[in-house]
Amino acid sequence: MEILLAEKAGFCFGVKRAFELTQEAASTNHAGPISVLGPLIHNPQAIEMLEKLGVTTVMDLDHVSEGTLIIRCHGVAPNLIEQAKDKGLAVIDATCPFVRRAIRLADTLSTERYQVVIVGDPDHPEVIAINGATKNQATIVKEPGDVGKMEVHRHVGILAQTTQTLQNLQACVAELLKRSQEVRVYNTICTATSERQAAALSLAQQVDVMLVVGGRNSANTRRLVEICKDVNTVVYHIEIAEEIESGWFENVDKVGITAGASTPSWIIEGVLDRMSELNKELDTLQEENAQVEETEKQEETTEAPQEEKQEAPVEQQLADYESSFVDLQAGEIIEGRVEEVGPDEVMVDISYKFEGTIPTKEVGPGKLEKGDQIHVYVAKVEDDTVILSKRRADRELAWSKLQDAYETGQTIEAVVKERVKGGLLVDVGVRGFIPASHVDMGYVDDLDKYVKENAKFTLKVIELDRAKNNVVLSRKQVLEEEYEKAKETIYEELNEGDIVQGVVRRLTDFGAFVDIGNGVEGLLHVSEMSWGRVRHPKDVVAVDDTIDVMILKLEPERERISLGLKQTKPDPWTNIGGRYSVDQIVQGEITRIVDFGAFVQLEDGVEGLVHISQLADYHVTRPEDVVTTGEKVKVKILNIDEGAHRIGLSLRDAQENTKKQQEEIYQEQTDNGNVKIGDVVGDLSSLFNQSEE
Ligand code: F3S
Repeated sequence: MEILLAEKAGFCFGVKRAFELTQEAASTNHAGPISVLGPLIHNPQAIEMLEKLGVTTVMDLDHVSEGTLIIRCHGVAPNLIEQAKDKGLAVIDATCPFVRRAIRLADTLSTERYQVVIVGDPDHPEVIAINGATKNQATIVKEPGDVGKMEVHRHVGILAQTTQTLQNLQACVAELLKRSQEVRVYNTICTATSERQAAALSLAQQVDVMLVVGGRNSANTRRLVEICKDVNTVVYHIEIAEEIESGWFENVDKVGITAGASTPSWIIEGVLDRMSELNKELDTLQEENAQVEETEKQEETTEAPQEEKQEAPVEQQLADYESSFVDLQAGEIIEGRVEEVGPDEVMVDISYKFEGTIPTKEVGPGKLEKGDQIHVYVAKVEDDTVILSKRRADRELAWSKLQDAYETGQTIEAVVKERVKGGLLVDVGVRGFIPASHVDMGYVDDLDKYVKENAKFTLKVIELDRAKNNVVLSRKQVLEEEYEKAKETIYEELNEGDIVQGVVRRLTDFGAFVDIGNGVEGLLHVSEMSWGRVRHPKDVVAVDDTIDVMILKLEPERERISLGLKQTKPDPWTNIGGRYSVDQIVQGEITRIVDFGAFVQLEDGVEGLVHISQLADYHVTRPEDVVTTGEKVKVKILNIDEGAHRIGLSLRDAQENTKKQQEEIYQEQTDNGNVKIGDVVGDLSSLFNQSEE
């Protein structure tokens, strides 16, 4: 007797996932009792097993006050999960990803003001959950006839309960197309149920007896029984292996076994074992498997034509929508949107039939949020699972970007992470190394400052070897190129007389070097710093000062730029004749003493000369015998030459003038008989002690 197992039988992906999440919650240290909202699975043996683990079923959120709440694979309205969290419950959302997608689509359509139409059973918990996402505003139709009775809006979005048939969805869409201006169709049907039904039907047609394994309260198992009976095969519906009777198999050559989507694998295995014991003619289980494989091949060839039947006018729309799903291949890098960040896995919408998952531990807590657009690497694609990796995608993209930059010479940006022997490490998606000699155009003695500042560098890739995990980068090359470009721009675009902003980089005794753009420096000579006399450049500017300077001379062939600072300020010699006049007595300060006299500053940038012959009314051999630097004096203006920036001064004449005035005062007071010697002496002494004023 041959024993054949249906190609698709037992737990579907969604039920398996929900069952495993619940088992895991029960076997780990979850706080408080564990409750499932609604029966997790329509199988009494599985429920009994969970109850032994302490998992109880509740029908209403009001009946849970503490502990962990598990949402079964049918899902719930989004607001119910929020309510559970508000009650302080730990929520494990075991909603099947197929259902979750339908819920999300309903939410999006509703937000975009589409009339949401759900093809399905209005009393089914899954449909209730999908409707909940629309705030219960969706229209639910069971069949095309219901469409004729409903009010249809101009813009309609239609989706289906996951267990609906494609034919029913197509027929409903066809009706809606007649009445609405725009119909957006979303095929949210899960193939797990139809696959099990097709596999059961195919097997039932080949065998004498079918065993359908699953809970008697399971609708999908009962449907499998009906399908198998429709081809006049003898069918037995059992829940467990112990129900099998040997008398059922007298004169039977072939027995087929199938199971509903809520039947755990251990029950199916129990049935297979029991059948194996009964089957005295089978020598080994290996033979049995070989026959199963052969049957599978036959089933594959008989299944193909069924798919070809699905052509109808409205099918084009569904086909178009189906083709909008990406064709996933392991090893691809694709873009996705984070839908949910759970304690164990991150669900990512990748425009596939269902969401892919990244293990949460791979990305770390708090790194991703709902709505984030990310790149993911497709690590594994199976019928019911897509495993993704963000770390791998980031790494692959980083290498690809580096390869691109290496080949094209384009720059990349990176933040300095660490100082190591011989240079710096930066993060370029992978670890990159900048040798110390490539950090700047010149030697840098303090590399640690870049780490402290979290400096962000623009870099060129100068060496790349993925096999050795070696990335060498240069900032120096970028700076050098920028410097060359800036130099060209400056020589091309700037003219003598232009005023530009620059930063003082270095000071010397003869001036300051000023960076006027991307490292291009010009010399600000000390003589061009001020209209007045400057003893040392540091008296006018300091390193890092930002100053406006005038381009005095551009010499591209010698790579020299001469700058002026004083030219950016008004020339104090302009209209000097309007402010000073010959014979005027003015006050000034001795700034310099030379062999032939002394220079007196009358105002900032305006100096005049007291010739040695004009220092005193006696012969002077050394000017410093008469005046000292810094001394304040009164001088008489002898002449003004505005063009040559010269003013001739006389200290002697100023003193004589003052003496004469004093004599006149003395004479006047003597004439009045009212004079004190101190008046005269005091006034005269003030002439020779101006610095004490
Ligand atoms: Fe999900 Fe399909 Fe099963 S919708 S729960 S995988 S039948």
